[in-house]
Amino acid sequence: MTRQCKTAILISGSGSNLQAFIDAVNCGDLDLKISVVFSNNPDAYGLRRAEDAGIATACIQHSDYLDRESFDNAVIAELDRFEPDLLILAGFMRILSPAFVQHYAGKILNIHPALLPMYPGLNTHQRVLDSGDKWHGSTVHFVTEELDAGPRILQGRIATIEGETADELQQRVQSIEHQIYPQAANWVGSGRVRFLNGDVWIDGECAGEPEVLTF
Ligand code: GRF
Repeated sequence: MTRQCKTAILISGSGSNLQAFIDAVNCGDLDLKISVVFSNNPDAYGLRRAEDAGIATACIQHSDYLDRESFDNAVIAELDRFEPDLLILAGFMRILSPAFVQHYAGKILNIHPALLPMYPGLNTHQRVLDSGDKWHGSTVHFVTEELDAGPRILQGRIATIEGETADELQQRVQSIEHQIYPQAANWVGSGRVRFLNGDVWIDGECAGEPEVLTF
């Protein structure tokens, strides 16, 4: 992509990853234009962060809709006003319908707080501690119709520390998310990384495995 990548960031809560994107754009480390921040939750603190940064916001509550498909259609109509090239899911706590994923095929990124394919789903930090794993981390991946199963782009990994709590582990994972998510989005926005035929392509080559950064 030669022109600046128009990006929509979707949130449901605190938006610390959103803040990392805002900060990276502001200091020139991230060549994206954040066109809109969308939330399904009017109380999401991330909406305040966006307003403070002078970014357009939009909110549609899923509880106002009868089913997932009609909610997703309303979200598509709202987002398409901004003609996004890229959608960044940053703590967006909604499962996307197949129609939504197909509408933005190859243009949706998610960050999941685990080293996928291990620990899809919720409560990842506690599950890692319960299993006694030596490594944990977070994964940026393209979104496909199957939850947390799209092709992986970049992982950040950290060693677990004996005796730490799930909250402590979560905080350490989030601090690496704030580094790897803008970085992976930059790769996609610049065209260095693409989604083709269900795979991740990096620098023109099909990548079987994600890039891994150890922190
Ligand atoms: C992140 O930890 C991310 O991995 C998960 O949701 C969390 C969002 O946190 N998908 P925040 O709202 O960006 O602070």
